Amino acid sequence: MRILFLNGPNLNLLGQREPEVYGHATLADIEAMVRQRARELGVEIDFRQTNLEGELVTWIQKARGQFEVVVLNAAAYTHTSVAIRDAIAAAGLPVIEIHLSNIHAREEFRHKSLIAPVCVGQISGFGPFSYVLAVEAAVNVKGVKRRPK
Ligand code: DQA
Repeated sequence: MRILFLNGPNLNLLGQREPEVYGHATLADIEAMVRQRARELGVEIDFRQTNLEGELVTWIQKARGQFEVVVLNAAAYTHTSVAIRDAIAAAGLPVIEIHLSNIHAREEFRHKSLIAPVCVGQISGFGPFSYVLAVEAAVNVKGVKRRPK
């Protein structure tokens, strides 16, 4: 089974960016946690970050046939991007929405996720552990067949 992790804008700054909100772990630290859990569960991971909305759209479009599940932290685009929502709706594979912070406990403009209705579910508020939970969620998405390794 192959899981594609996609990270949106400013997540490359984790570790230095608003540590009181996002903590001190870098994206590389989080990727290492994800890879560790994936190894234990016997799944393959591709882990990417971009600041560009269109690049996220392209990666979601190309995921079909290459991955069984996409895990997406669309960051600020969560709250603004119809293009990413449409890409998910067209993707033909399950997408899991994740966030480090609890978006529902923050500013009102973060309460609305444009992508939530087209995702399988949302994991929000567990810091870097949101990513580890997403590995667990991805391997348990209903209807996804795990290819033998
Ligand atoms: C975030 C939450 C978003 O509201 C914010 O714009 C981010 C990070 C999170 O992981 O908590 O950049 O997606």
